Amino acid sequence: MKAKIIGISSYLPSRVVTNDELSKTLDTSHEWIYSRTGIASRHVSAYDELTSTLAIEAAKQVLEQSEVRPGEIDAIIVSTTTGDTRFPSCACKVQGAIGASKAFAFDVNAACAGFIYALAVADSMMKSMKLKNVLLIASETLTKFVDWTDRSTCVLFGDGAGALVLQSSDDETSGIIATKLYSNGDEEKYNSILSHNGAQNDYRGYITMAGRSVFKYAIEYMAMSMHDILNENNMTMNDIDWVIPHQANRRILESLCKMKEFPLEKFVITTENHANTSSASIPLAMRDAMYRGIVKKGDTLLFSALGAGLVWGSAIIRL
Ligand code: UT7
Repeated sequence: MKAKIIGISSYLPSRVVTNDELSKTLDTSHEWIYSRTGIASRHVSAYDELTSTLAIEAAKQVLEQSEVRPGEIDAIIVSTTTGDTRFPSCACKVQGAIGASKAFAFDVNAACAGFIYALAVADSMMKSMKLKNVLLIASETLTKFVDWTDRSTCVLFGDGAGALVLQSSDDETSGIIATKLYSNGDEEKYNSILSHNGAQNDYRGYITMAGRSVFKYAIEYMAMSMHDILNENNMTMNDIDWVIPHQANRRILESLCKMKEFPLEKFVITTENHANTSSASIPLAMRDAMYRGIVKKGDTLLFSALGAGLVWGSAIIRL
C-alpha cells in the first residue's frame, strides 16, 4: 500500500507586508533583509484570522479539488506550532467546520519540521490502521508570535496554510517512498537557539532566536538527513527531480548547496514572497511550484526541514 497525494491547496492571508513597509517602523531596510534572507514580502494574518481560519480555507479547497467528501475523511492531522488555543486542537476545529463526521483529528507540533513529522505520522497510520483518506494540513500564524519591535526576528516570518489529501492505493508506482525523522533536545546545547520566550505557561511570549546558530545547524542537519534518506533508499540526487526544503531563508539554502554539494537548480525556493511560514512552508512551496507548472505529476520530490527543538527530517515522495 502507498499513501498518495491526490490533491494540494494553499491559503495565504490577503495582507502583504513588504520590507519597505517594515522599514518605516523598524531600523532596517529592504537591502538588509533581502540580501541576508531572500525575503521581499510576507503575508500577515488579520487579528481575527486564526491558524484554524487558514487551515479551514485550505481544507475546503483541497477537498473540492480532490473530489473527496468530508464524510469520506478518516483522519485530520494538522501540523502547527501556533494553534489558536492550547486545546482544543486546530484539527478538531477543522473537523467541525468541514463536517468530517467520521474522522479522528489531532495536531502535531514539530516546529518548522512539522510537515515532515505529520507526513510520517499520516503514512504510518494509513498503513497500520488501514485508513483510506487523510486530510493533512500545515497551518501557521507566526506573525502573531513575533515581537514587532525586534528587527532580528520579526522580518523573517509570514503566515499561511497548505493542505493535502493523502489516499491509500495499491498502485506502488507513486506515493510516499520514505520518511526520516530526528530530534535533539540537548538542553544545554540547543534550547536557547530558537525558543518561545514565555514563562512555562505564558502563551503570550515572543519568538527568540540565536540566528547564526540556527543557520549553522540547519545546513549540517538538513544535509545529514537528506544524505541518510537517499542512501537508505538506494537513491542519489539523480533520482530526485525537485528538492522542496523548509523555506526559512534563501541564504541557508544557497549555503547548504555550496557547502554540501547539492544542486541549487533543483531547489524550489519561495522565500521571496512567503518568508518563513514554519511548517506550512513546504506544502506552500509545493503548491506554488505545481501551480506554475514546475513540479509535475510523476516527479520525485525530496522534502527536508529543521526546526526548534531541535527537530529535523526528510521525506521522499513520487507524485
Ligand atoms: O526556521 C529557522 C528560522 N531561522 C532562520 O531562518 C534564521 C537563520 N539565521 C539567519 O538567517 C541569519 O542569522 C539572520 C538573517 C537572522 C541574521 O543575519 P546575520 O548576518 O547572522 O546577522 P547578525 O544576527 O549577526 O547581526 C548582524 C547585525 C547586528 O548589528 P551589529 O550588532 O553588528 O551592529 C544586528 O543588530 O545586523 C543587525 N540586524 C539588522 N540590521 C538591519 C539584525 N537584524 C537586522 C535587520 N535589519 N532586520
